[in-house]
Amino acid sequence: MGVGTVGFLASLKLVGEKRNKNEISESELKEIQSKPNRSAFKPDEAFVIFVLGGPGSGKGTQCSKIVKDYNFAHLSAGDLLRAEQNREGSEYGDLIRSYIKSGQIVPQEITIALLKNAMQSEIDKGTNHFLIDGFPRKMDQALTFEETVVPSKFTLFFECPETVMLERLMSRGKTSGRDDDNIDSIRKRFRVFIDQSMPVVNYFDNAGKVAKLQCDEPVDAVYARVQKKLEDHGVKPESK
Ligand code: ADP
Ligand code: C5P
Ligand code: MG
Repeated sequence: MGVGTVGFLASLKLVGEKRNKNEISESELKEIQSKPNRSAFKPDEAFVIFVLGGPGSGKGTQCSKIVKDYNFAHLSAGDLLRAEQNREGSEYGDLIRSYIKSGQIVPQEITIALLKNAMQSEIDKGTNHFLIDGFPRKMDQALTFEETVVPSKFTLFFECPETVMLERLMSRGKTSGRDDDNIDSIRKRFRVFIDQSMPVVNYFDNAGKVAKLQCDEPVDAVYARVQKKLEDHGVKPESK
């Protein structure tokens, strides 16, 4: 099944669902699908580790540490969406803003297109090892990405109690300027994480492709665990 077919099926599903007034319109979906898709990467062209965990579990913090030691490119789906949201002239800015504020998952076509383009530009610069942070957040994203972009090697999953994540997010919210670091949005994001993102973790776990770690510890202690998991999966500091 080609990229276009998957996108089309996904759009039919979306269009069939009840949509909020700010959700993407049918014509906008067609517009995304009509843009030329780059061909999918071969498994040896891109080494992908998904990085998942609840909001505030420390994904971004740990990825920043990994890239200093391992020569991976760090692509945060949330960061790419926020950049697109703020890009002058983006036709999806308002749509992305409304999904992020309510903690909902942005339609997969947008996020996958942003990730694929970002991966291609890293490959063009000579990096083909990727930490894909905060993705896939929903089963459709997981299946479409693995089918049309490249299969992941494994998932690093950060386990963290909600109370700890809440405290971290409220603290981050003092300076982050993010529209979703407030108590209302955080509650919604926790619910979406349990209902929509945990099935993704369980899906990969059933396939034996999840490395779980506890992250309710100081940053450096968590990082030591991350390094051990990477080593267990044959990822060496000089990997590139
Ligand atoms: P995520 O990307 O998973 O949402 P972040 O990496 O942005 O999480 O971390 C959320 C907040 O918690 C940030 O303010 C960060 O500085 C802080 N933080 C991250 N890891 C830890 C940790 N192990 N201990 C204490 N605070 C942390
Ligand atoms: O990962 P991060 O916390 O930066 O994500 C912020 C928001 O971006 C999510 O709550 C969600 O609205 C959106 N997002 C998404 N799909 C992803 C990643 C993020 O819709 N794969
Ligand atoms: Mg993050």
